[in-house]
Amino acid sequence: MRTSFTTASTLPAKIDALVIGIASSGTLPAGLGYTRAELSAIGFDGRCCQTTIIPASGQSPVRVLVGLGEMSALTANTVRLVAASAARAGARYAKVATTLVTDARGNAKDNAQSVVEGMALALHRYVDLKNDKSSLPALTSVVLIARTSPAQVKAGMEMGIATATAVCTARDFANTPPSHLTATQFAQHAEEIARKSGLKSTVYNRDQLIAMGCGGLVGVNAGSVEPPRMVKLEYRPTGARGHVVLVGKGVMYDSGGISLKPSDASHASMKMDMSGAAAVLATMGALRALKVKTKVTAFLMCTDNLPSGSAMKLGDVLTMHNGKTVEIHNTDAEGRLVLADGLSLGTQLKPDAMIDIATLTGACMGALGKKMAGVFGNNRGVIDQIKQASTRTDELVWELPLFADYRRLLDSNVADMRNIGGPLAGATTAALFLSEFVADVPWAHLDIAGPMEADGDDGWLNRGATAYGTRLLIDFCAQFKKPAASKKK
Ligand code: BES
Ligand code: MN
Ligand code: ZN
Repeated sequence: MRTSFTTASTLPAKIDALVIGIASSGTLPAGLGYTRAELSAIGFDGRCCQTTIIPASGQSPVRVLVGLGEMSALTANTVRLVAASAARAGARYAKVATTLVTDARGNAKDNAQSVVEGMALALHRYVDLKNDKSSLPALTSVVLIARTSPAQVKAGMEMGIATATAVCTARDFANTPPSHLTATQFAQHAEEIARKSGLKSTVYNRDQLIAMGCGGLVGVNAGSVEPPRMVKLEYRPTGARGHVVLVGKGVMYDSGGISLKPSDASHASMKMDMSGAAAVLATMGALRALKVKTKVTAFLMCTDNLPSGSAMKLGDVLTMHNGKTVEIHNTDAEGRLVLADGLSLGTQLKPDAMIDIATLTGACMGALGKKMAGVFGNNRGVIDQIKQASTRTDELVWELPLFADYRRLLDSNVADMRNIGGPLAGATTAALFLSEFVADVPWAHLDIAGPMEADGDDGWLNRGATAYGTRLLIDFCAQFKKPAASKKK
């Protein structure tokens, strides 16, 4: 993350611009020097996320006014959006101070976290491979002015820095071209992140995966010259309450394999088919900084999916880590195969909850579009905690049915199941497939195929990889409570 944040109790002398939040009604900030009628005359009425710039004059620096809308309607989620708009409007100023944290009133800690997240995420760009880096915003330094409750503001800022750093890291991984980020390289990055953030890491190579019986991950990898990797990460805080397992789909590039995808534009997005694993890795890297009190274990299931003479074929049968056999009817339904091994390994640990996150089905994107993930699960408490994390982070989810009757669509003539259902209810049949590998562990599955990528800059999202699910998973782990064992109702 390029943006640095600090706090101050008064306006610093050397700033290039000051960001001020203005509500759509009520009194204007003291010393603004403009009436509502004057602001209205330049088209600014304080509507949420509206911005306008006032030139420097006399003692006053350039001011970026950003609308807060109706004060009574402000939430942490709108503050995050407001901050993102302000960062875009002020992107040309290198050093910016802002009174937003207190302008928004309410909880200073939550406001500070939202302001940092909104600004840092809106300012993020992936430019590693550009010679011309002029698309990078000049804005790299933000001072949060906290006249009151400075400790609260600082604490919120630190949380925002940890979550935004995680999101930027995951976005960079997902934006990286497939030949610049192989499973081997991704595992090396994971080890480095683990070292820096107090996690135990174990990397498993192909021989070890074969010995462990990870037939799904090894099978998907069969067509590739790049070997697979599984990364296990362990976060072990003292006095932990509860144990969560996270499993991420890390398909470094999804060509479809023998069931080759057509060469349309969306094909280039398949470098992002490791977005689930990236979100999990970034989440794990943030837990210590956020003093999360939940024990968390992660499995990153990494390989690409390519066709060749050694690739798995339609009709082949794989034996997964839990011993179940799967007949391959479409090599493009590879995500569920790599996840199955991770879920089976996670189940052996008997965690209090297990979450997988995967760019799994075009069907889920077809159903929900690009602004929300699908969530499925076998336990009401876990699904509800995912929904609560979603509400707090504004990473939207919508629950879809794990409709047991459709399990028959996965029936195989020769094996325990096939890896695809029919043409209908593709997101549900994929989730039903995964449910075969979780036994009775309370489990939820996030299908992020839709929101993995943004088509344009929008709020705190920028065009390209979104790292969707990173903040949601961090929040889920931080707030986690052991769910009742009861099955879903
Ligand atoms: N990685 C894709 C799903 C995907 C599609 C993610 C579009 C993001 C955007 C997944 O591996 C896949 O190919 N799924 C198939 C499953 C089908 C063969 C049952 C799909 O959705 O078409
Ligand atoms: Mn696929
Ligand atoms: Zn895929």
